[in-house]
Amino acid sequence: MKGAELLTTTRAFRRRLDLTRSVDRQDILACLDIAVHAPSGTNRQPWRFLVVQDPALRQQIAEYYRKGFGAYLSARAPRPDQLADLASGQYLAEHLHEVPALVLICSLGRPPADPTPLRLASFYGSIYPAVWNFMLALHERGLGSTMTTAHLAYEREIADLLGIPFDEVTQVALLPVAHLRPGSDAPARRRTPAAELTSWDRWDR
Ligand SMILES: Cc1cc2nc3c(=O)[nH]c(=O)nc-3n(C[C@H](O)[C@H](O)[C@H](O)COP(=O)(O)O)c2cc1C
Repeated sequence: MKGAELLTTTRAFRRRLDLTRSVDRQDILACLDIAVHAPSGTNRQPWRFLVVQDPALRQQIAEYYRKGFGAYLSARAPRPDQLADLASGQYLAEHLHEVPALVLICSLGRPPADPTPLRLASFYGSIYPAVWNFMLALHERGLGSTMTTAHLAYEREIADLLGIPFDEVTQVALLPVAHLRPGSDAPARRRTPAAELTSWDRWDR
C-alpha cells in the first residue's frame, strides 16, 4: 500500500491489533528508521525511542495508562459522535498490557518553560511528524498502532520505572504496536472535507 491509500487508511487501530502474535524487533527498527526521516526544527532530530516488550513492564505501564485514561474519561461529557471512539479507547486501555510492543516516543529536553507559540511549535512540531511517519511505516508492513498520550499523567512514574532521565527527556506518545488482524482497510472515519475548512486570501470561516 502506498501514497494516498496509505495516508487515508492509517488510523487508530485498537480492536484490530492481534494480541496473540509477537512483533519482530527488526520490523520495529525498520519502521523507526522511517520515523527518523521526519522533519524537525533545524534538523535537531530530538527523537529517542524506547521499545518495551517485557511483560512485567508492559503490565505496569498499562496500569498507569488505565488510570490516566480513566481520569480523562471522567473529566469529559462526550458528544454522541465520540462514544464509539471512547469505547474503542476503553478496549485498548483494558488490553494494553497484552499488546506485544509498547513504543515510547520521547524528545530530548523538556517542554519550554516559557511556552510562546513559537517555542511550543518548535518543541512538539519537531516530534509529532516522526510519530506519524512511524505509524505509516507500521501500516505499510501490516502492523498497526494508535497514537496515545493517556499515560502522560504518570510520565514521571513511567520514567522512573524505565530509567528515563525525566529532567532531560520528555515522553511524547505511547504507540502500542501489533500485527493487524485481517480486516478491511477502510479509510479512517469521516473527515470534514478540506473545501469546508479552507479559506483563500482572506479568513472566511
Ligand atoms: C495527540 C493525540 C493523542 C491521543 N491520545 C489517545 C489516547 O490516549 N488513547 C487513545 O485510545 N487514542 C488516542 N488518540 C487517538 C485518537 O482518538 C484518534 O486519532 C482519533 O479519534 C481519530 O481516529 P481515526 O483515525 O481512527 O478516525 C490520540 C490522538 C492524538 C492525535
